[in-house]
Amino acid sequence: MELKIAVLPGDGIGPEVTTQAIKALNAIALEFDHKFTYKQADIGAVAIDKAGSPLPDETLELCKTSDAILFGAIGHPKYDNAEGSVRPEQGLLKMRKELELFANVRPVKAFEALLDHSPLKRHLIKGVDISIYRELTGGIYFGKKETKEDGSYASDLCEYSAEEIERIAHLAFKAAMGRRKKVTLIDKANVLDTSRLWRKKVTELAKSYPEVSLDFLYVDNAAMQMILNPRQFDVILTENMFGDIISDEASVIGGSIGLLPSASIGKNYALFEPIHGSYPQATGQGIANPIAAILSAAMLLEHFGLFEEAETVKEAVERSLKLGITTPDLGVKHERITTEKVGDFIADFISNPEDSNRNFSNIHIGQSTII
Ligand code: IPM
Ligand code: MG
Repeated sequence: MELKIAVLPGDGIGPEVTTQAIKALNAIALEFDHKFTYKQADIGAVAIDKAGSPLPDETLELCKTSDAILFGAIGHPKYDNAEGSVRPEQGLLKMRKELELFANVRPVKAFEALLDHSPLKRHLIKGVDISIYRELTGGIYFGKKETKEDGSYASDLCEYSAEEIERIAHLAFKAAMGRRKKVTLIDKANVLDTSRLWRKKVTELAKSYPEVSLDFLYVDNAAMQMILNPRQFDVILTENMFGDIISDEASVIGGSIGLLPSASIGKNYALFEPIHGSYPQATGQGIANPIAAILSAAMLLEHFGLFEEAETVKEAVERSLKLGITTPDLGVKHERITTEKVGDFIADFISNPEDSNRNFSNIHIGQSTII
């Protein structure tokens, strides 16, 4: 298969983790005889610095003319309290809106090798396998905004149309059909009109998927259930802001936010990005976990039906976790295991699973040739 991939590394640790994802994709291309070509463009703080805009027109154009987009991270502290209207995050939000990437899919799994690493108890998280469907182009993120000039008042409007709800709900139900056939809608229907519309529309639409059971949780209760009993969830369906918050919380199950990938899908375009931010303090230090970016590349492969290829990437990731070839966020403090070395191991395993097995299965961290 030939794929033209737009690469938007973005800010902070974005470039270093994206480089590792590309290494994994290149190894896959070689092994499975595909042709992946990459073109890079700026987004976020780097784009503001260079071009004055967090999403330059050339970047958007490149995205529109590519088969898929691989995105790194966005945000820089120098813009945190920036007066005026330009912020790096606007680049990502504008891209989501312009490309109509309305469904953000965030899988959350407890990796066997990391069960004791999570701050949550092993027996609570063993076997957790959740797929979060977060609406990505509506809600309070994109409603009318207003700040009074004298700074005495600000407002963000939360809006949803029935159509915006239905298109992502269909995807969530379809996903549930291929899984454990359960959808949980997370909302705040005891308070918000938008949530009541979500409940009404999702309840109506559930009739087309009689095999799938549907239940509802208020977001405050859901936040508690996520750490009390996460195994109860199969597919979570939720609006933009609740999905942002719940997915960061869910990352605790895996043991690090550096592990969680995501896919943002629309009718015409698809973007793959780790859920973590730009982690500016870690930039260039080689401590950023590349696994979320690498697993996002695996989601890209799945999106194009390359399931065996995606599985190979996931196996390589699991092997690296099992062997403790991981960055310090996973508790293994070995200064020589850098972002790059984790990426090297994973690409190497993809190319030579047999050899890697032989070389790595009994190693003591630090004694291998590639570490
Ligand atoms: C995410 C991020 C973004 C969001 C930020 C960077 C705008 O937190 O993708 O979860 O809030 O959607
Ligand atoms: Mg977030």
